[in-house]
Amino acid sequence: MKNLKNALLLKQLYQLKQLGFNYTSVFPYKEEESNLLLPNTLEKLKKQALECHLCELSKSRTHVVFGEGDPHAALMFVGEAPGSSEDSMGKPFVGRSGELLTKMIENVLHLKRENVYIANIVKCRPPNNRTPTPIEAHTCQPYLLKQIELIKPKLIVALGATAYHYLTEDETPISKIRGILQQQENYTIIPTYHPSYLLRNPSAKKEVFDDLLKVAVLMKSKL
Ligand code: URA
Repeated sequence: MKNLKNALLLKQLYQLKQLGFNYTSVFPYKEEESNLLLPNTLEKLKKQALECHLCELSKSRTHVVFGEGDPHAALMFVGEAPGSSEDSMGKPFVGRSGELLTKMIENVLHLKRENVYIANIVKCRPPNNRTPTPIEAHTCQPYLLKQIELIKPKLIVALGATAYHYLTEDETPISKIRGILQQQENYTIIPTYHPSYLLRNPSAKKEVFDDLLKVAVLMKSKL
């Protein structure tokens, strides 16, 4: 899923499936492919994402939360979707779970938040903080994949089941898969619990601490 054309095609196929179609010989999307390729710089990509209206979430958002951090970060965190604080500020992880994530980055990894990159699976807030639908996640995914392609992180920490699932297509429950390193073509992924889960279940902090120790070792080894 490298460009918006594929995302739009997938979105339209999902919509047709929801309407009851099992098969279509019609190619539903006809726009010129060149209009749908994503730009090759982070700044231009951000500009395009800020103007995005490809899914329903664009109607209720206040701000698009593109992501922030070091554009050359070796370490990237991917969460699920902006919440209300993020939606009002246009920045990822700035609410209560963001405070916890920042503490994890600073106190466990001994890094500055601005030296990593933080993004989400979807860039606009789902109403009532519900989980993004597959259509929303797949429609937004090309932006994240392009961010990853441009930033070139060595290690991605997938925060929670949604981030892990859409980054890998693996549906193994997060409780079974957390802490297990997975080598992808250009980077390694380590899934762990989402900070908002930790706010609800503080006893799971120990497991996330263990996962972050692995991250620290990998970062020191320069991978
Ligand atoms: N939760 C997320 O998954 N992402 C954010 O940016 C904030 C809360």
